[in-house]
Amino acid sequence: MQIEENISLQRHNTFGMDVRARYWAEYGSADELKELLSQYADVQKCFIGQGSNLLFTKDYDGIVLHSSMARAKAVRETSDEVYIEAQSGLVMDDLIAQLCDMNLYGMENLSHIPGEVGASAVQNVGAYGVEAKDVISQVDVLETATGEIHTLNNQDCKFGYRDSVFKGEQAGKYVVLNVTFRLSKKAVYKLDYGQLRDVLPAAPSASAIRNAVIAIRQSKLPEVGQTGSAGSFFKNPIVDKATYEHLRTKYASMPSYTQADGYKIPAAWLIEQAGGKSLSMGGAAVYEKQPLVIINRHNATPEDVMRLAKMIQDRVEEQFGINLQREVIYI
Ligand code: EPU
Repeated sequence: MQIEENISLQRHNTFGMDVRARYWAEYGSADELKELLSQYADVQKCFIGQGSNLLFTKDYDGIVLHSSMARAKAVRETSDEVYIEAQSGLVMDDLIAQLCDMNLYGMENLSHIPGEVGASAVQNVGAYGVEAKDVISQVDVLETATGEIHTLNNQDCKFGYRDSVFKGEQAGKYVVLNVTFRLSKKAVYKLDYGQLRDVLPAAPSASAIRNAVIAIRQSKLPEVGQTGSAGSFFKNPIVDKATYEHLRTKYASMPSYTQADGYKIPAAWLIEQAGGKSLSMGGAAVYEKQPLVIINRHNATPEDVMRLAKMIQDRVEEQFGINLQREVIYI
């Protein structure tokens, strides 16, 4: 266990915000986590992975906690499937690279998403037609109030679009320890999203799909470690039929994707139409190749980012009457 005081969080958030935390601690086991929870019972807490989906809005007057548990092992195998139990602090993309090398299918479309295994369950990360929930079999958690360890099955996790039982009202109730993913030994393709199928040969390997996804991501999204950002800043809004039809008559070219609960409209399109592509505020700017992303162009402060986000939301609201919800969590 490692505890530090008054540390800079700059290298612990992909936005690169230069804020400080009163305490920073890493735990290497459930017992160490329990110890920290009792030792810092009266201090506010924030659990982070790579800090790739959050904005520290100011110095954090509490303890920021990170899991240094980062192993993965096969726990069950059938003729068609392998179940891999991965610890919360393992970098997701390192896991995916290994699974693709083993020619196990299921997570290749999620290649290059920044973040760690624990957060993949919290956030139900997704890309190119696959979400973490499609491959999560179960999640082991520690209940913060009691210190008890529970296993939640896929249903218990109440996964939704970038949503789960670990967020929102119940945030803080559980800390993810392990996630068990269900991988397929046989090729199961999800190639219908965007240009994915067009750039691949017939019957591609998991690694070929991974490489294609990485190439597409690199062409659209800022490189983590080079340009500060937290990926998509907003969620793609889902509107009801009446709103969709009203907008469609006004904007014939509006892209949309039919969902079980309405119509998903790309926020990037809404932002572009609302003139948001060229916006900036202080050191923060809209990323020109993908306006859903806000970047730290040059020494941006949290205020720059928050003011720019608000400006984008106001423009979209004014033109389309749609209230963009943040994907990025403000701390
Ligand atoms: N578009 C524009 N103008 C632009 C760019 C895009 O109008 O300059 C429109 C186009 O219509 C395009 C559509 O936006 O077809 C969708 O764009 P893209 O395929 O890049 O995906 P996205 O919906 O903007 C989502 C996820 C990404 C994920 C990609 C690929 C959310 C909030 N974002 O973005 O996830 O990588 O799909 O699956 O759902 C993240 O969550 O951080 C993230 C990067």
